Amino acid sequence: MNSTNEHFRPVALQHACRLINHGPTVLVTSAHDGRRNVMAAAWSMPVEFTPPRVAVVIDKHTFTRELVAASGVFGLCIPSVSFVDTTYAVGSESGRSVDKFARHQLVARPGPVLGVPLLETGCAAWLECRLIPEAHTEDAYDTCFGEVVAAAADERIFSGGHWQFGDDNKALHTIHHLGGGNFVSAGASFRAAQP
Ligand SMILES: Cc1cc2nc3c(=O)[nH]c(=O)nc-3n(C[C@H](O)[C@H](O)[C@H](O)COP(=O)(O)O)c2cc1C
Repeated sequence: MNSTNEHFRPVALQHACRLINHGPTVLVTSAHDGRRNVMAAAWSMPVEFTPPRVAVVIDKHTFTRELVAASGVFGLCIPSVSFVDTTYAVGSESGRSVDKFARHQLVARPGPVLGVPLLETGCAAWLECRLIPEAHTEDAYDTCFGEVVAAAADERIFSGGHWQFGDDNKALHTIHHLGGGNFVSAGASFRAAQP
């Protein structure tokens, strides 16, 4: 399986937050000291425009959290409809005792700036992020903040700085968790009238 997807194109940092603006379930990727991991996260959002910054909830008890804290970096990969089973699987097991990349035959490419493992096969986009050290996160909260340093998306579903959800690319639509392994996919987009 290829680690890169020929349809992926860089996304300008000014548009990177649009990749998660609509609340897709993401895959948080991480690596440190020869170990790597991936988990699902339903809770992520943009929090700053310039530089682009994001928040993602990563439970303190997860192996992901351990790797992200140790490495200071993480990836947010945005799975498509076609990847829903894998997404649910990697969100239902811990990487502490198993290499989920090997178990699910996931092949990552290194991020262009920080070398974070990033998934393109099965995903519509990714954001490579540097963890922002935050005392409250270290002490009490599960919310982690990151600065986006690079982003890319499949041009068949994100182009011109916008998602292009249509009937012709349904397998690439993003997925949104309803709880308990139930998901909805992004539907067709439509535009509000000019105020
Ligand atoms: C669809 C889905 C969404 C999830 N969303 C979150 C989330 O937003 N934050 C979180 O900490 N855990 C979330 N989880 C749970 C983690 O993915 C789960 O604890 C995972 O096993 C952690 O793996 P790790 O120990 O290998 O890091 C979600 C699980 C699923 C299936």
